Amino acid sequence: MVLRAAQTGFAVLVLLQSCSAYKLVCYYTSWSQYREGDGSCFPDAIDPFLCTHVIYSFANISNNEIDTWEWNDVTLYDTLNTLKDRNPNLKTLLSVGGWSFGSQRFSKIASTTQSRRTFIKSVPPFLRTHGFDGLDLAWLHPGRRDKPYFTTLVKEMKAEFAREAQRGAGQLLLSAAVSAGKVAIDNGYDIAQISPHLDFISVMSYDFHGAWRQTTGHHSPLFRGPEDKSADRFNNVDYAVGYMLKLGAPANKLVMGIPAFGRSFTLASSTTGVGAPISGPGLPGQFTKEEGILAYYEICDFLKGAAVHRLSVQKVPYATKGNQWVGYDDQESVKNKVQYLRSRQLAGAMVWAVDLDDFRGSFCGRGLPFPLTTAIKDALAAA
Ligand SMILES: *[C@@H]1O[C@H](CO)[C@@H](O)[C@H](O)[C@H]1NC(C)=O
Repeated sequence: MVLRAAQTGFAVLVLLQSCSAYKLVCYYTSWSQYREGDGSCFPDAIDPFLCTHVIYSFANISNNEIDTWEWNDVTLYDTLNTLKDRNPNLKTLLSVGGWSFGSQRFSKIASTTQSRRTFIKSVPPFLRTHGFDGLDLAWLHPGRRDKPYFTTLVKEMKAEFAREAQRGAGQLLLSAAVSAGKVAIDNGYDIAQISPHLDFISVMSYDFHGAWRQTTGHHSPLFRGPEDKSADRFNNVDYAVGYMLKLGAPANKLVMGIPAFGRSFTLASSTTGVGAPISGPGLPGQFTKEEGILAYYEICDFLKGAAVHRLSVQKVPYATKGNQWVGYDDQESVKNKVQYLRSRQLAGAMVWAVDLDDFRGSFCGRGLPFPLTTAIKDALAAA
């Protein structure tokens, strides 16, 4: 009987896994280690069963070869990849590029056959040495002239991975993080051409609004808001996803980005709604220390004594306190986003970044670590 029950349990588990085959792709940022006190995050804080894929960001390119960024990256790679001892199904990828890397350097490497070749050749041995299962391209963002080179880079990288796999190890995964802004998509990506060569594509469907504008606005609304006129009608998750699909991204490779951070503003007047005038970005968070950005765990703190409003059309919340305004995602809004991605039969969700979620469970109450990412995971697993 006991064995029978165990077998049934196992069968149910296998069934569950094959039914809810959604990806949950989680970025980890190496610079989160330097945040003070409870903000400091090392890869061993990550629950090995939380995500299906963890992407370590970022790697550098030095002399046209992939290289570490932080002085202790090799140690942290090892810490991250040790999570696979506990969950052998977990996949880890190394992301190369990022904002500080700069688009021009990527452009230079990708645009000549020789440097591109050198870079591509350097990747598989580096990933194998450090125990990664794949590479994530975070060229932010290819410009108009870079478009064909980005396509070539993706194609040639995939071909190299296929060649390398003939040695017997499983083929390395290849993914890309792509902009969600319409202009950036139009400029930089030949979606139909790159899609066949990528295992998945993460759309960075956030940062749609920020302190570079003159008014408050949510940076990752699910839908277009009533005030979104002209170019702003493109600035929502729904549009970005629909546009990617229209351009030829297969739904089963498209991963929707969900931010574990908010974008904040300092109000210029007593007006506090969406579209209220601002005097600049919001005050830096205690741990992330960057104007205009708050980690989800800092938002949990901010919410004490704040007024929370839900945008009924855009399906996301914002909160105000004094002259501060922050648009963010919470357990309820991510549920809506997951429902949406399921209805579109996308491949899953991506979280930027697990170190911005309440990874210790010490800020957002109830003592549960990763409340936001867990809410996404649960919504993906729901029947
Ligand atoms: C990345 O590589 C470039 C080129 O070699 C180098 O100049 C730069 O210092 C490196 N960045 C880091 C953070 O190591």
